Amino acid sequence: MTVSTGRIKDIANIQKLGHIEFRTTDLERARDFYVNLVGLHETARDDNRIYLRCTEDKQHHTFVLRKADSAGVGHIGFVVSSEDDLDRMKSRFEELGLPTRWAGNDMLGQGRTLRTQDPFGFIIDYYAEIAQVPWLVQQYHLHKGASPTRIDHANVLTPDAQAGYDWYTQELGFGCAELTESDPPEKRIWASWLFRKSTVHDIAVMTGAGPAAHHVGFSLPDTLSIIRACDMLAGAGYATASSADLRVTVFPTRCSFTCAIRTETASSFTPAIISPETPRPSRSAGISITRCGRRCGARRRRVVGLRNPWRWRPSTAPR
Ligand SMILES: [Fe+2]
Repeated sequence: MTVSTGRIKDIANIQKLGHIEFRTTDLERARDFYVNLVGLHETARDDNRIYLRCTEDKQHHTFVLRKADSAGVGHIGFVVSSEDDLDRMKSRFEELGLPTRWAGNDMLGQGRTLRTQDPFGFIIDYYAEIAQVPWLVQQYHLHKGASPTRIDHANVLTPDAQAGYDWYTQELGFGCAELTESDPPEKRIWASWLFRKSTVHDIAVMTGAGPAAHHVGFSLPDTLSIIRACDMLAGAGYATASSADLRVTVFPTRCSFTCAIRTETASSFTPAIISPETPRPSRSAGISITRCGRRCGARRRRVVGLRNPWRWRPSTAPR
């Protein structure tokens, strides 16, 4: 048995956000939304899952739909550098009392996978190997819908965002692109935008009822593509008006541009635009589409939480 010799950041190398799995009660309807409107590409499918990727992804999947009894987020996956990293990480997580198991065999195209539940209740997968697939950048005839170039980040909620920041930076070795904190004397972190790869951020941890997913971010190549995506979603009936009435926020001091579209994934899987004033729905998750930048939201913004509780309890073996 491999014995860990320190914190994860000293014994392993987490490379980047790998994929996110959404649960849906209507797999084909979800596929229609994400393939024909959002513009993801289907790599493969099995009885329970559809494996999708973005135009610039060379990995087998970066976004997965799984048929389930309730809608929400199944897990978040991160890519690590090597198989040995996984062994050391498993030992370390067990030292910390976190539940772990090997869970790679049920995901097509994905190698040995270490599944754990972090201290905040999120189900997280780590894996080193994933099948490589053809690049679709120049397959212009296959581009449709909003056509994201890559998956960008996950944004999650937990009641203690300070602890989330500490975990990701001090234990896992994430860098912090940006943070917001409460005023002195308390001076606790309210939200942090954290990264491993060199673009934008991989995960943001914000204060809110959790464990819950707030949204998943996809990247588009330029600002006009976001406007076009807004119009496309509106035209397809996912808004009652054109992009001029959607929440599109521009930060003039940075190159970030976030289109705050929230798509509710309720049991019927009927996406709907949700405004900040809309009461928080249950069992839902959102997406945002963002241009390259180092932030995805305004400082001290009001969180529009889309509750999405993870189901895995530490007393039971994770699925
Ligand atoms: Fe975001």
